[in-house]
Formats: sequence, C-alpha cells, structure tokens
Amino acid sequence: MSLLEIHNVCKNFKIGNESVSVLNDLTLTVNKGELVCLLGVSGCGKTTFLRLISGLEKQTSGTILINGTQYKIRNRTVNMVFQEPRLFPWLSVQDNIIFGLKRNDHSKAKNLKVTEIINKLGLSPYIHEMPYKLSGGIAQRVALARAIVTEPELLLLDEPFSSLDSITKNSIMEDLLDLWKSANMTIIHVTHNLDEAIMLAQKIIVLKYRNNSTECFDIMNLSYPRNPESDYFKELKSKVFNSY
Ligand SMILES: Nc1ncnc2c1ncn2[C@@H]1O[C@H](COP(=O)(O)OP(=O)(O)OP(=O)(O)O)[C@@H](O)[C@H]1O
Ligand SMILES: [Mg+2]
Repeated sequence: MSLLEIHNVCKNFKIGNESVSVLNDLTLTVNKGELVCLLGVSGCGKTTFLRLISGLEKQTSGTILINGTQYKIRNRTVNMVFQEPRLFPWLSVQDNIIFGLKRNDHSKAKNLKVTEIINKLGLSPYIHEMPYKLSGGIAQRVALARAIVTEPELLLLDEPFSSLDSITKNSIMEDLLDLWKSANMTIIHVTHNLDEAIMLAQKIIVLKYRNNSTECFDIMNLSYPRNPESDYFKELKSKVFNSY
C-alpha cells in the first residue's frame, strides 16, 4: 500500500533572470514501511524533493499525496533530519530529543518509548550534556532520536551521515536499521554513498539530472546484513553507478 504518491511534480527556481526546472514531471510512489535510498548527482534536486514532501517548499505544479491526502505543514506524519544536526544550543540532549513531542504527550508509555530510543541510539550517557560538548556523530544521533521520538510515518533523511567517519557511520546505520525494523516507519534516505545505499535500502531510486526520469532498483528480497564483498553487491553497485 502506498504511503507517498508523487504525481507529475515540477519544481522551477528562479536563478538570476532564468527560471530553471529542477524537477520535471516527476512521478513515483513509496510504499508504507519501505526504506528507500535516493541517489543522484549533486544539484539534481534531492534536497528539493525532500523539502517538497515535508511541506517546507511548494511544488510549481503536480500533486504530492501522503496517505492519499495533500500534506499540510504542521502535520506530524513527516519528520526530516538534515545534513547538520541543527540542535537547539540552549537545550540539553534530553530536552532536544523531547522538543518535538506534544506538550501533553508525556505519558508513561511515551516516556518508555523515548528511553528505549535513547538507549538504542547509545545516547543515555549524554542526556544531560549541552550540544556544544558533543562530537558530530553523537550530535547526529541526537538529531535522529529527536525525529524518531515523534513517531513519524515518514522519516526523511538528507545525507545525515555524510560528514562522519566510516566506523561511526556504520554503527549509526546499524542502529537506524534496527529502529526501522522495530518502528513502523517509512524512510527516504538521501545519500551520495553507493555502499550506504545498498547496505540500507529496500529500494534504490536514482534521480536523473534535470530530467523527468528516475531509475529504480528493487532489492527488497536481499536479506540484511548485506555483504559488500559479495559478487551481487559489487554487481549492483556498478549497475547503480552506471544509471546516473
Ligand atoms: N531556494 C532556491 N532558490 C533557487 N535555486 C535553488 C533553491 N534551492 C535549490 N535550488 C537549486 O536547485 C537545484 C537543486 O538543488 P538541491 O539542493 O535540491 O540539489 P541536491 O540534489 O540536493 O544536491 P546535493 O547533492 O549537492 O545536495 C540546484 O541547482 C540549486 O541551486
Ligand atoms: Mg542536497
């Protein structure tokens, strides 16, 4: 069953005196519970695409439906994590994480859920720290926790691990996979890293530069954890690379 439907979406930006078409007649669907990785060359419109879905930006034409209805800002079904953690510097880690919860949403069950997410992401030693004391990797984990505690149906990740070393990144990716399996979440994860995409995704979508086409690789049947040394992995990586 589809959660997100994109129908003939176009997005133009005015750059100088010119109107530039960034997304052109884009149509695709994402099913409930899917983990999708979105790839494409720099400037092809990946961030723009996420911003349209989250309601931060409005499409020039076309329709975006979430659960069959047009998305409204402030609707809590969608949450986004950016390339930088964007934590509130005046709040502790714990207060950053619970910031997005509704004021009255501090039931016992909710508190247990928040504690579970904090533990799963290895954040319990840091909950009373202020953001300036955190390493980039920990800060990005806090940003992820802050987005996940609100239990979004659709989580949008815009290259959140791109500035991390590969060991830290792999460990966050494993935690993300665990959280995705246990929570009933749909994820669209933008990355430039092909290995990361093949490690995580059920579906890889390559967005072509200023074009209306996408190429889709369905790898739902490939079990986790995936082995980057396997022939299948290497073959798929080269296919995805050649589709750019
Ligand atoms: N608010 C804006 N005003 C004008 N042009 C914009 C705006 N936002 C994005 N663009 C342009 O739209 C194009 C796509 O930008 P976008 O940030 O979506 O690309 P991207 O695929 O996310 O790139 P990267 O991989 O480098 O993050 C770029 O040419 C960018 O300059
Ligand atoms: Mg981007």
